[in-house]
Parts: sequence; structure tokens; C-alpha cells
Amino acid sequence: MSSKLIAPSVLAADFANLQRDIEMINASDADWFHIDIMDGVFVPNISYGMPVLKAITKHATKTIDVHLMIVDPDRYIKDFADLGSDILTVHYEACTHLHRTLQAIKAEGMKAGVALNPHTNINVLEDTINDIDLVLIMSVNPGFGGQSFIENTYNKVKALKALIKSKNATTLIEVDGGVTNKNTKQLIDAGADALVAGSYVFKSDNPTIAIKDLRVLANS
Ligand code: DX5
Ligand code: ZN
Repeated sequence: MSSKLIAPSVLAADFANLQRDIEMINASDADWFHIDIMDGVFVPNISYGMPVLKAITKHATKTIDVHLMIVDPDRYIKDFADLGSDILTVHYEACTHLHRTLQAIKAEGMKAGVALNPHTNINVLEDTINDIDLVLIMSVNPGFGGQSFIENTYNKVKALKALIKSKNATTLIEVDGGVTNKNTKQLIDAGADALVAGSYVFKSDNPTIAIKDLRVLANS
């Protein structure tokens, strides 16, 4: 079985010491950099944009996993490709023509991801699952780091895993929000392949060890 992946969320990093935190992730057991882009419209918060992503990709040596929490993501697909994104995830709730958006992401050479808000049932992906490289299940309402994990996520991950299997798809499942050492094992057992962790990593005394601990738990 392939390794389960840990993606520290840069949203929780110290922006005044961003290069230091990027290099910490480079040297750690982390697999991906998780990059949260918020526009203040789709979600009630503004995070950071292109110039900061450019600074991150200049130093990052691992997969760049970009989570767009923005309206009308089609407008920026090429920009995110040019900035070095490897995976580009858009929200189901922000896409009128999801299939077209997925094709456009792939045409730019990136893996295509779809994120689902906590209220969105996984069944809405029944007709597109074979076109999706990654589904990101939000385990908090998007917009802020440091929120509490929503317990219904386990059921959603299980249902999504069953859908992926029934369609013979190869889609990865990523879980984002409130991930800690307390829910990691249960999420992996439910079928998750990748876990995003912001506060748990950056608020710990030793982020490198926090990443290592999550990765060991996820692969135990
Ligand atoms: C929330 C973001 C998450 C966030 C996770 O909208 O999508 O990626 O950074 O942070 P924690 O792990 O603190 O919940
Ligand atoms: Zn995210």
C-alpha cells in the first residue's frame, strides 16, 4: 500500500519567518506544502495571494498542493500553474461548470482537485469522480485555521472511498481542518490518503517532531 501523506498548512506558519518555516518543512518528513488561498468572498477571510505563493515556491522542494477558496477559480488557473502549483483544488460550491474547470486544470499540467464543504454530500461527485485526481474533504468550515474537527467527516471519507472503489477510480482523499494526533489514525482507517495539518504542526513546541509523529501515526 502506498504511503499516507502529511501536508502542513503554511497558513499557520510565521509569515515574518516564512523562509525558515519553509525550510523546516523541506527538511521534515512532510510530503506536501498545503497552500490556502482565500479571497474574502467565497470565505469570510483573506489569506495571501500570488506574491507570497511565488516566494514559497522559490524555496519549497516538495509538492505544492494549492487549495483555492475563491469564487470563479477558472480566472486564475494559468497563474497558479505558472507559479509552480502541482495540485490545484477548487471548491465544488464555487464551480458552475466543474467538469470544464477540471479539464482546464489538467490542460495546464496540474493534478485536479475538488474540495467539498462540510454540508456538501459526496454524491455530487458521482459523475466526475473519474476525472478528479484528489477530493479534499473539509473537516471544518473553510476560512480559518485552528477550528475544531467535525466528527461527521469519518462517515464522509468512508462514503467517498466506497464511491471511488465502485467507479474504479484512482482519486486520492485529502482531509483538511482540525487534524491532530487524536484523529489521524481514524481518518486513515476511514480511507484518507493525505492529511492537512496547520495549527497542530505550527503551534507545537517542535513542528518537525509534530510532522514526524503524524506521519508515523498515519502509516502505522
Ligand atoms: C481552512 C484551511 C485549512 C487550514 C487548516 O480553511 O483550508 O487548510 O489551514 O488549519 P488547521 O489544521 O489549524 O485546522
Ligand atoms: Zn486548506
